Amino acid sequence: MKARIQNQLSAMLAALVITLVGCSEPAANTNSSAAPANIHSLRGKTPVTEQAPAPALASYPGKGTMIARTYQHQPPLIPHKPDYPITMKRNMCQNCHGLDAKIDAPSTHYSHFADDSELKGGFYFCNSCHVAQAENVESSSIVGNQFHAPGYPQ
Ligand code: HEC
Ligand code: HEC
Repeated sequence: MKARIQNQLSAMLAALVITLVGCSEPAANTNSSAAPANIHSLRGKTPVTEQAPAPALASYPGKGTMIARTYQHQPPLIPHKPDYPITMKRNMCQNCHGLDAKIDAPSTHYSHFADDSELKGGFYFCNSCHVAQAENVESSSIVGNQFHAPGYPQ
């Protein structure tokens, strides 16, 4: 009985050795001296062992500046910071953009309101359509495109 188990074990070991030798063969054929592929993570080019410099804080256009639209009926970009709270109980964007806001800000588009002057449900979460545009975005991180609507700046 003991001898049979020993025989089985040595057969398994032999099979393992053959498999391992088989696996290592293709690796031996690859050119290990090739330069490493030029890829890096979202973290950038800083090696993991080094502390990457913090990205610059976003800065937004000065007060009174609107960002030109690039096509008709585009949801305008937000020219200021976007992190005003929008919760079930209150929508802080409406403090300034609501119909009865006391601040000199452009009113929320009339299409966003129902007949009773309440925001329509689909327009409540402003940030699902309006996004902020910081001024100091690195041009290298902007994805290029060739979109151009006739009559609008490129
Ligand atoms: C403290 C007041 C205030 C709050 C709160 C505020 N805004 Fe504004 N917003 C303004 C003012 C004022 C302007 C006009 C540009 C300027 O003067 O900076 C503006 C401009 C905009 C514009 C550009 C409109 C256009 O026609 O180009 C959008 C879009 C906008 N805000 C969306 C939002 C959203 C979405 C929120 C909530 C996340 C919000 N705003 C919160 C004051 C405010
Ligand atoms: C479903 C998408 C959507 C959501 C959500 C939305 N908007 Fe808009 N918004 C638009 C579009 C599209 C326009 C452009 C309308 C046009 O010019 O025909 C617009 C226009 C505007 C304008 C410019 C008004 C003008 O007269 O030029 C302001 C200000 C604005 N929205 C504020 C807001 C605020 C504040 C909220 C949240 C309460 C909000 N929007 C939610 C799509 C959206």
